Amino acid sequence: MSFQAPKGTFDWMPPRSEWALIVRDALSAPARRAGYGYIETPAFEDTGLFARGVGESTDIVTKEMYTFQSKGGQSLTLRPEGTASVVRAVLEHGLYGGALPIKLWYSGSYFRYEKAQAGRYRHFSQVGAEALGAEDPALDAELIVLASDGYASLGLKNVRLLINSLGCKECRPAYRAALQDFLRGLDLDEATRQRIEINPLRILDDKRPEVQAQLVDAPLVTDHLCGACKAYHEEVRSLLTGAGLTYSDDPRLVRGLDYYTRTTFEFIHDGLGAQSAVGGGGRYDGLSEMIGGPALPSVGWALGVDRTVLAMEAEGLLTERPGQVEVFAVPLGEEARRRIFSLVAELRRDGIAVDMAFGGRGVKGAMKAADRSGARFALILGERDIEAGAVQVKDLTTGEQTAVPLAGVVDVLKGKLS
Ligand code: HAM
Repeated sequence: MSFQAPKGTFDWMPPRSEWALIVRDALSAPARRAGYGYIETPAFEDTGLFARGVGESTDIVTKEMYTFQSKGGQSLTLRPEGTASVVRAVLEHGLYGGALPIKLWYSGSYFRYEKAQAGRYRHFSQVGAEALGAEDPALDAELIVLASDGYASLGLKNVRLLINSLGCKECRPAYRAALQDFLRGLDLDEATRQRIEINPLRILDDKRPEVQAQLVDAPLVTDHLCGACKAYHEEVRSLLTGAGLTYSDDPRLVRGLDYYTRTTFEFIHDGLGAQSAVGGGGRYDGLSEMIGGPALPSVGWALGVDRTVLAMEAEGLLTERPGQVEVFAVPLGEEARRRIFSLVAELRRDGIAVDMAFGGRGVKGAMKAADRSGARFALILGERDIEAGAVQVKDLTTGEQTAVPLAGVVDVLKGKLS
């Protein structure tokens, strides 16, 4: 009997897996430089947290959660996203009583029982950042700039930014009612009709052409913003422009989670087909209260690691092979193996990436392994070299080989590699 990774999941294997690490690092680096502290929350939470936080009417909660009962009888759910957990942790640890905003970043695995397809997985990875406890357009703009800088640092050129404002609890209800009135007059199937009453904004996101065709004249949220939301949104836009970002206004950008208020945004890559969002986020001023906390206006984003690697691939950025060793050691004989083993340990302690031939496969096999490793230099040690107190350093690109005194090889290699 053999096993396979479950549907909608995949293994990150070398050398491609190195890109997942590089992407995680690059996407989180700007936030780390901007004072965001690292938070790690459990991979599962009380089911109620997501039901209330993400929203009972969302696809995530109604169709996509991995929910199970613990042996103690509690309903638990594998986290489908990170924001609700971060807010839960901030409330649980009482951080909202201290200096605000609380800035946190995270990285990890998330789980959604989605229809599996290219770029849409049931187990995927995000880097996220959240700033909690401040209502300040500069914070919204800061987060958007940090995400944009993360993508740019990876060399990505074709990431587009879409932004919108969903209004607040003052102006959203009137917009919602106007949209419901409009939608009730359309020719829609029964499931979509039911949606009008539960989550009308999501219908704007319906991808079906027959639905989109009817939505051309739908009222737009941006025409219904109150004065405060309008001013807030204008300030976010102007800060983004001031920071050199280009963006498109997308009044239909509603996002798939219920907690958003005011600013919402998405980063799109056109080389990815249907699953084009490489990241997204927004302001969620009411989420803390939705899960039983005090008012805690907040904003954040999550960037998809898997899709960012796919975007880099689409732009031809995965050409070099990361994670390779610089030096490969080849012992010829038993005594040489012992000597080279300690030399390899010494080189590694000096910060040089080194591998060596294992398994006693002979010179030919060992040199093949050296070539495959991607190393720039091979260190070859034979009986005669030991007698002479030297080791052969072979440049694997040019084929040139020189004898170097054993005592000086660390410095010689450091010099050659620098
Ligand atoms: P989200 O838009 O659901 O937002 O997910 C953010 C990103 O995660 C997406 O843009 C996408 O790149 C990636 N992603 C989502 N689902 C999948 C999937 N099934 N397969 C592969 N990648 C996926 C959130 O999760 C919010 N928590 C973002 C946020 C933080 N809002 C405020 N703070």
